[in-house]
Parts: sequence; structure tokens; C-alpha cells
Amino acid sequence: MKVHIKSFGCQMNKLDTNLVCSALKSAGHEITDDISFADVVLLNTCSVREHAEQRVMSHLGNLKNIRQKSKPEMIVVVFGCMAQRIPDELLKHPAVDVVCGPGQIPQIPQLISMAAKTRRPAISVAEDIRSRPADVQIQNLDDFEYENDAAAPALPRQAFVRIMHGCNKFCTYCIVPYVRGPEISRPPETIIRQIKKIASGGVRQITLLGQTVNSYKYTAGDKTYNLADLLAMASEIEGIEWIRFVTGHPNNFGDEIFKAMANLPKVCRYLHIPAQSGSDKILKAMNRGYTRSEYIGLVERARSIVPDIAIAGDLIVGFSGETEKDYFETVELVEQVRYKNCFVFKYSPRPGTRADEKLADDVPDEVKKQRNIHLLEVQKQISQQDNRRFIGQTVKVMVEGTSGKAHLNKAGQDPLPQMIGRTAGDYIVVFNGESCLAGEFVNVKIEKTSALTLFGRMV
Ligand code: 5AD
Ligand code: SF4
Repeated sequence: MKVHIKSFGCQMNKLDTNLVCSALKSAGHEITDDISFADVVLLNTCSVREHAEQRVMSHLGNLKNIRQKSKPEMIVVVFGCMAQRIPDELLKHPAVDVVCGPGQIPQIPQLISMAAKTRRPAISVAEDIRSRPADVQIQNLDDFEYENDAAAPALPRQAFVRIMHGCNKFCTYCIVPYVRGPEISRPPETIIRQIKKIASGGVRQITLLGQTVNSYKYTAGDKTYNLADLLAMASEIEGIEWIRFVTGHPNNFGDEIFKAMANLPKVCRYLHIPAQSGSDKILKAMNRGYTRSEYIGLVERARSIVPDIAIAGDLIVGFSGETEKDYFETVELVEQVRYKNCFVFKYSPRPGTRADEKLADDVPDEVKKQRNIHLLEVQKQISQQDNRRFIGQTVKVMVEGTSGKAHLNKAGQDPLPQMIGRTAGDYIVVFNGESCLAGEFVNVKIEKTSALTLFGRMV
């Protein structure tokens, strides 16, 4: 069958999408970018904010129309976080045939065959998402991950490698612990075997993925492995040149991870470490487990051990009870930290979370919007100023492909296409070069900078 797949949400979801695509190809299906050719449509869904769920629902509305008007036989599969959060509601939707939770993705090829054969709805989700799955199920997921190709087709020679599932932090606003289940670290032996396999297939850059990667912990025999151990082991693998990891949690960030970044040349000096707020009152209401000064202390410690480290953050504006004063404490935090970049989100209450049950969503949407725009503007000024230091420097870049926005950088009348890539610190670089450079490392001398991009010439 011809299969079309659309992914919403975070990198974890993108990884799941790549794995599912690979499994469907192995099962004999063909992937198509054009939905009008598809016999099967899969949506990999996100629940982190209401807006993400609304986008999925509007997609399902379109699929319902397509089915009614022209393709009654088309099979629609909804998987990922929404499938785990509202399975029954989705199964009742007139456009949906198959519902599958994020922990059940190895079953997707089989669920599709069943739905095609029986023309009956099929469902597989965790019954009790917070209880640890049976060992056999954990093993199944691990095998699925190892056997399938995790390489991102849009990012040549790069791949994501999951090191852990789930989350145990229970930040009061967050749906993740209720849809991705408890924290489970994968065995280091499988992770390393998997990285060796993808390295021998040509991958040069890997990103270790988890909701809170610094909580990684796996005991085998009498040794307990942590993230720093994984970084050291992955560094030994021939072919791998850059290693990143996302996302960190500000708690329990030991010096050994920073020392690994400082001492292991393959480990990128990039840290994504969400603060979420700069107000102690709000951090407490969010159950983040640290104060503003502890967060600043962490940033200072990171910078003292890894002087050129690039730090990125996430911030939520308009959380329950956030006053103007609380918000300005967040602004101050951003000014003090001087992030490389930060992602800003308007608080979106998620059903079933503690914040939604116990706290009022009392900041008007208009105020959330203004704070969001303002905070991004504050960060933009910082990035604009700090990026200027790159002018005249030559940076090493992993090329991703041709740049969507043509001729941002009118470097003369260069006939070569405009290429885009990233430095080890995750700075976006645009330059003119051959399109065959995608997936290669090149050196670029920076001539011009903006808040989001460095522009230069290949040397
Ligand atoms: N509302 C807004 N933003 C949220 N995030 C997580 N849950 C919510 C929510 N309910 C943000 C956090 C997290 C990022 C992935 O999404 O900043 O770090
Ligand atoms: Fe959500 Fe907090 Fe876990 Fe991150 S650490 S996934 S914000 S509960």
C-alpha cells in the first residue's frame, strides 16, 4: 500500500515517525509525500499544548472529507501522545480506523493489516500509562528501535538516538508523564550497538534524546551508567564526529556532564536547559524543583567548566498566577543568562495535569500573547548583539541542505545555491555552496550576522 505520514510535535515524535516509516517500508509498503496517492494516512500527534491538538483535529476533519468524497477505502491511523491521551474520542471520530499509543508503535504495521482486512477499528494503547510496562514490551520497543532506520531523511548523515523513554518529573503544567509514561532508560549496550550500526551506515552526527537526559541511569552488573558514561562510550565510535543531547533538566546536573563536554572533542558544546520561568513563586507552582538562583548557578557552573558553551532555553509565559512582577523576573533571567536562543510558549492548560486541576488559568490570552512577543524581542536583542562576535571567525558547519529562503545572503552574484547548516553550538549558518555538500562538514568564514543566522563564505 502507499502510505503518507505526517508528524506533529517534538524531536521524540520525529524519531518515532522515522522508525515507523522504516518499519512500514520493511513490511512492503511504499512511502508517499502526496496524500492524494495514499491508501493509508498516519498522523503522529502531540498533546503538549492545546493548539497542537487542534491542528490534528482539523487535519482529521479534512481526512473525513477526503474519505467521504473520493477515497472511502483510505485507512487513517492516529498514533503518538494524543492517541494515548484520548483514545476513545479518537476511535469514535468518523475519519479514524486505528489508534496506537507511543509505547505501542511496533504494532503499527500489524494494526494496519488488520484494519485493511476486517474494515473494523483497531486500537492499542497502554491501559495504565504510569505503571512500568512488562519487560517483554520494553524489549519489543528496544528491538524496534534497533532494527529500524532512525536516520532523518531531511537531515543527511544525522540521526536521533533515544536513550530513555518517559518522564518522572511531573511539572504541574505538563502532559508528558501522562502520555509517555514513566522514565525508563535503555540499556547502554543497545544504545552503543545502535550508534555503531548507524555510524557504519554513514551517519556523522547523533543526537541522544530523552525528556530529561541527565536523569539517564542504567545498572548492569555492578556498574551504573549515566549520561557522561554514554557520551564517553559514544565518543569512541569511529565515524561519529558530533554528539549532542537534548533535553536536560536543571536539577541533578552533575559536573561530570560538563567535564565530558569540555574534554571529549566530539561532544558538542551545546546545552538545551529549559528554565520555564524566572520567578521563584511560579517555579514552585510549576513543581520545577529549583529556584531562580539555583538555575543561574547551574548556568555559571556550565560556563566555568565549558567556557564557549551555547545555552538554549524554554520559557512559559502566562502560567497560573503569573503577575507582571513575576513576568519581569523571567525577563531579568533571560537578560542575565544571555541564551543563544530560547523558545517561548504561552501557557496552555492540559486536562489531567495538576495545574489544570488545582490552579486557575487566570492570565488573559492577550496578556500571554504580549509577554510572548516581548520576551522573544528581549532575546532577539541579546542574540543580535552576541552573534556579532562571530564576524571574521571561521566556523565548522554540518551542512543540512539547501536553504528554503533563497538569497538571504546576496554574496555577490553567486551562481551556487544557498546552503544551510549548523555549528556544533547549534548556530544556523547560511552560505553559498554546491548542493552535494548536504551531510558534509565545511568551514565557513562569517561575514554578517542576524539574531537567528550567521552568514558567510566557504573557505
Ligand atoms: N503549556 C505551554 N507550554 C508547555 N510546555 C510543556 N507543557 C506546556 C504547557 N502546558 C513547554 C515547555 C517545555 C516545552 C517542550 O514545551 O517549555 O520545555
Ligand atoms: Fe514535562 Fe517537566 Fe517532564 Fe519536561 S521535565 S517532560 S516539562 S514533566
